Amino acid sequence: MSKKNQTLGEYIIEHQSSFKYSSGELSRLINSIRLAAKVVNHEVNKAGLVDIIGAIGDTNIQGEDQQKLDVYANDKFIQTLTNRNIICGIASEEEDDFISINSQDKNNQNKYVVLIDPLDGSSNIDVNVSVGTIFSIYRRVTPIGTPVTIDDFLQKGSEQVAAGYVVYGTSTMLVYTTGDGVNGFTLNPAIGTFYLSHPNLKFPKDGKIYSVNEGNYIHFPQGIKDYIKYCQMEQDDRPYTSRYIGSLVSDFHRNMIKGGIYLYPKSSKNNNGKLRLLYECNPMAFLAEQADGRATDGINRILDIIPTELHQRVPFVCGSKNMVDKVEEFMLNQN
Ligand code: AHG
Ligand code: MN
Ligand code: MN
Repeated sequence: MSKKNQTLGEYIIEHQSSFKYSSGELSRLINSIRLAAKVVNHEVNKAGLVDIIGAIGDTNIQGEDQQKLDVYANDKFIQTLTNRNIICGIASEEEDDFISINSQDKNNQNKYVVLIDPLDGSSNIDVNVSVGTIFSIYRRVTPIGTPVTIDDFLQKGSEQVAAGYVVYGTSTMLVYTTGDGVNGFTLNPAIGTFYLSHPNLKFPKDGKIYSVNEGNYIHFPQGIKDYIKYCQMEQDDRPYTSRYIGSLVSDFHRNMIKGGIYLYPKSSKNNNGKLRLLYECNPMAFLAEQADGRATDGINRILDIIPTELHQRVPFVCGSKNMVDKVEEFMLNQN
């Protein structure tokens, strides 16, 4: 039973025994993510004061400009998880390849791998708009004590053991699931403690908010164009409200609380959309389903997609169940 005002630390201890195959390892891992989140939060909050905003002058493997905070958050999460020796591998949106952590050492009994988008919504850093971190956790599929391989990372989203995000917003929250519902914890910055503020988060079945970058409208598939027109139509409880922050974490968080849908469809410019299956779509899809919502690429359930590469992109539609159902209906009937 989750209790209000419980701290995240207390919550993790209380729920440790309810994890499948529990040995305390996953609890320690979530604790380390909590720590890294606090460190990154500290830096994000003083971003306007110190020389940490702006581009670093480099690009990541996907050809995107890296921001200083992207690199900072990436380094902090990797360092925190590596130093504590609790995982055997990590893959990050900001790294070319996965990183093996002492996994060839026979004494290393660690069985989890982590995939992260260390800083989501980087285009919002310089303008004081909410950004986030997304994480996804799997059990390795190769034997413990041998080097991790790409197979440990290219698992279907339905195999996730845990997933979550941190939103660095008007307040900082850590929201996560271990497959038993979704809980949100808010940081009290004065004492550096996360408290359970949003127990058992659920997407309302219906919503009135749609979030999509409509600048790409003319490039969208016909089914998505039709759905957007449907949202704008004067009928029943429509038109819906359009809200697009440009940070997936923040758009998702708002839609989960208020009811809504987020779309990053494929377009004639990007056949697979923009968002990354392993670092963004799978963890958000796991959270969505755990909160009674849905996530699809327009046709297939996101969590059923078999990944073929680390930085793979997929079209992404996620949110309140009835709204996602409607998009699939339009996609199916598009001409
Ligand atoms: P990231 O900052 O990790 O690269 O992710 C940005 C993503 C997502 O958070 C956001 O919703 C989307 O890209 C915005 O893309 P557009 O600017 O193309 O709308
Ligand atoms: Mn992102
Ligand atoms: Mn990112």
